[in-house]
Amino acid sequence: MMASRHVPGRAALAVAERSRGAVGAPGLTVLGCGSALPGRRITNDDMAQMVETSDEWISTRTGIRARYWCDRAAGENQRSLAAEAARRALAASGVAADEIGICLVATFTPEHATPSTACLLQRDLGLPEDALCLDVNAACAGFVYALYTASCLLSVDSHRFALVVGAEELSRVMDMGDRSTCVLFGDGAGAAVVELDPVGPGLSAVWGSRGNDDALVAGGPGTERPPYLAMDGRAVFRFATEVLPACTKEVLARAGIGPDEVDRYVFHQANKRIVDVAVRKLHLDPARCAGNIDHTGNTSAASVPLLLDELVRAGEVRSGDRVVLAGFGAGLTWAGCLVTMGPLGN
Ligand code: ACO
Repeated sequence: MMASRHVPGRAALAVAERSRGAVGAPGLTVLGCGSALPGRRITNDDMAQMVETSDEWISTRTGIRARYWCDRAAGENQRSLAAEAARRALAASGVAADEIGICLVATFTPEHATPSTACLLQRDLGLPEDALCLDVNAACAGFVYALYTASCLLSVDSHRFALVVGAEELSRVMDMGDRSTCVLFGDGAGAAVVELDPVGPGLSAVWGSRGNDDALVAGGPGTERPPYLAMDGRAVFRFATEVLPACTKEVLARAGIGPDEVDRYVFHQANKRIVDVAVRKLHLDPARCAGNIDHTGNTSAASVPLLLDELVRAGEVRSGDRVVLAGFGAGLTWAGCLVTMGPLGN
């Protein structure tokens, strides 16, 4: 068993105190990332066998060419994806499972209503029993909400490391009778091990909620709605193209840095056209905003950490890079923040 790397509570509080006045929550360093995709790859042509659609319609309107769905008969589900992504993030970070003090899972498709996926990860990964384990439901903004929460908790906790996961099994809540939504979503998970960054520009976190259960909603037991995701695509498109550029701009303003001082923008992958609008409005270099929606589809809370991990593994995000993360989704919610990449070995 590795030696405990708790930091004194007072030191952590001092970090929080220093950062609060200028930028809110203290900054985070990402020590390692991981991700997991299930085994069933579903191309647009496969979708066209199931619903009346075409590769041309889906790819020109969304940028999606394929997505992955869980094979439940093979034991794949939201929890197994979360555990796999988390194990990879721990291995990449060099932090042992028993050093994790906070475990947050962003999801709106947990395996059970309770216990939370985060609590089950305590057992699946061998996290210590004094780890604070909690699921966060802020739909596609969930991973960034969870990072902000982790930063706040680490600043008042004696533990040094947090594990933050985004994991979804959206194939379970898709209405295959609604071709305008079922073609958009995929399953997956992404994870990051983080610690407080006492020297960077702070998390510069921005978030928001606008209560709305018409534009984007998944029903369930006890509600009058069917247990599927239903969406007014045009309304969500208008919302997304408003909040994604606005919240990214606000993150930069809070950090006091210009757009070119950010190495990568990792935007929620809902629709390539939404990201393209944000890139244009913000005058960003498109090469710094590349996505992965072509092969993942929209994986909601998993999308931001999944893309971050793919960029790290491709060597496109490196040690010391500053990365803006931003998401938006059902709630309606949005959130953005700035993180620094730690020693990634790439
Ligand atoms: N294949 C073929 N035709 C289709 C399909 C399909 N899969 N779906 C809809 N159509 C048809 C419609 O029936 C309609 O036909 P009509 O003109 O004869 O009536 C036509 O295509 C246009 O339909 P629209 O819904 O108006 O298509 P639109 O151009 O708005 O694109 C889309 C739809 C892609 C969903 C877009 O609105 C969008 O991307 N919205 C944002 C979605 C999003 O970002 N969600 C993120 C949040 S998810 C979360 O938080 C969990």
